[in-house]
Amino acid sequence: MFIWSLIGLVCFFPMLNNFKGGVMAFHKVSKHLQHVRAIQVVEDHRTGYHFQPKHHWINDPNAPMYYKGLYHIFYQYNPKGSVWGNIVWAHSVSEDLINWTPLDPAIEPDKPFDKFGCWSGSATILPNDKPVILYTGVIYENPEPGYEVQNYAIPENHSDPYLKKWIKPDDNPIIKPTKENASAFRDPTTAWKVNGQWEMTIGSKVDMVGISYLYRSPDFIKWTLVDHPLHQKENVGMWECPDFYPVSIRGDKGLDTTVIEGDIKHVFKVSLDSARYDTYTIGKYDTKKDRYIPDEGMIDSWAGLRYDWGNFYASKSFYDPSKHRRIIWGWANESSTEIENVKKGWAGIQLIPRTVWLDSSGKQLLQWPVAELESLREKHMKLSNKVLKQGDKVEVKGITAAQADVDVVFKFRGLDKAEKYDTKWDKLFPPETLAKNICRVMSTTKQGGLGPFGLLTLTSKDFEEYTPVFFRVFNTQDTKHKVLMCSDAMPSTLNHKEYRPSFGGFVDVDLSENKISLRSLIDHSVVESFGAGGKTVITSRVYPTLAVGDKVHLHVFNNGTETVTVEKLDAWSMKKPKMN
Ligand code: FRU
Repeated sequence: MFIWSLIGLVCFFPMLNNFKGGVMAFHKVSKHLQHVRAIQVVEDHRTGYHFQPKHHWINDPNAPMYYKGLYHIFYQYNPKGSVWGNIVWAHSVSEDLINWTPLDPAIEPDKPFDKFGCWSGSATILPNDKPVILYTGVIYENPEPGYEVQNYAIPENHSDPYLKKWIKPDDNPIIKPTKENASAFRDPTTAWKVNGQWEMTIGSKVDMVGISYLYRSPDFIKWTLVDHPLHQKENVGMWECPDFYPVSIRGDKGLDTTVIEGDIKHVFKVSLDSARYDTYTIGKYDTKKDRYIPDEGMIDSWAGLRYDWGNFYASKSFYDPSKHRRIIWGWANESSTEIENVKKGWAGIQLIPRTVWLDSSGKQLLQWPVAELESLREKHMKLSNKVLKQGDKVEVKGITAAQADVDVVFKFRGLDKAEKYDTKWDKLFPPETLAKNICRVMSTTKQGGLGPFGLLTLTSKDFEEYTPVFFRVFNTQDTKHKVLMCSDAMPSTLNHKEYRPSFGGFVDVDLSENKISLRSLIDHSVVESFGAGGKTVITSRVYPTLAVGDKVHLHVFNNGTETVTVEKLDAWSMKKPKMN
């Protein structure tokens, strides 16, 4: 029995309200806090190598792009406070996606067509290396959240690789909503070209039908609504931040959105406003019908595939022509309350950009932190062939465990001891929260057969606090095993007022070699974990009270009756990059 099992039980509290599948439902509008400037920036829990501005609130990544040797990221930012509001497009540039230099905001609400908000959007690089941004402008403040139009912005000087100044031409807005969707009509995508015309799509809903409206233009200025959407789905609610891009059927090379035919599939991703997570399907872009059609067997609903089964929202991808890869950025909101965010003077991070490509099965995507992240690795510790019997925990010493990158391969003798999958869970829990709920009821303290085994990240000395990331293998009626991956914030902090979800996702992995890998990026208040080479990814935000700074420890553990061997573990202290 683990000494920390009791602590785990005590930590079992129901979820706080206001949270659904992942993060807080729509941006809370708290007018009285929107202008409360940060007096100080509280460093506890502030990340060391994740993207953050100096202070205040951030949300969605916008219009990521590569231009003349520089990566650009724009993002929704409140320059005046640490809650959502007063949104501008903040702007930073980087040579390597890791070290960032801030520039002045690129787009601010100062025209009649964006007076009450410059909301999310995307960049398209037009022929002759001409970037254009499409973004949502809010033109009435009431009714909340307003009347949404689509605008464009262009660089003042194309020869400036920093793209410091952006012009919002006077012929904006270029697209107006219909009466039906005036306050649910936002987040235009990167455009692509089909039949000689530009097309792009905009997120929306009518009642509970999620809709991705399709617009067409000969010149990128005059846009007309196509008579059918690119895609739509009933019973899902508002589709925010759609993303639509091709992936290669073979290999991991990324493709530009202009590639619409060949040995490719298409990915259609939306951010579900009512559930607060990003879900995607893989399918075909039928260029004749000009529609996206998910592949047979894809679950096109709340229970579909996700980039990340944890705190990850409003993601946006882009094609990096310099390294022929597609990269996604995602936003992780704080789990702490607005008042705490105001006190600490900041809220929100962008997660480490991830390379994304199609799995050889064609049935899901794979994701991996961009290779450039490895330039931050410094002190290196290793373990190999370390045997973990049931109840064992082995500390990985010698690195800065609060700010680390750890990559481990677990090996076991076979699957015989995998515990039985309890089919009552399928009846008890809705499919979209099934994995998460099993992680909650089957935490690390519940002894298993094959698993739970994995990492105990952000652990305090005597295990009063720890954020476990682990696998548990179940034996099901049919011969296939079910592999569950969990990232459990429940025991992460003694502050039980925090939201501490037990995030989880199933891993569609072949265990015939009796191995599974796990990589976790640990950074003070965030743990981003990649299971089985990026098949399942989970991000947790956590706020330990004891496991802070140099008081943080890292362990590998096993609490299953099957012995598990750490075949190989590499862990590195991570340096702090230049961060805005
Ligand atoms: C997603 C979102 C977008 C909107 C923006 C406003 O988090 O709600 O739909 O454009 O944030 O900040």
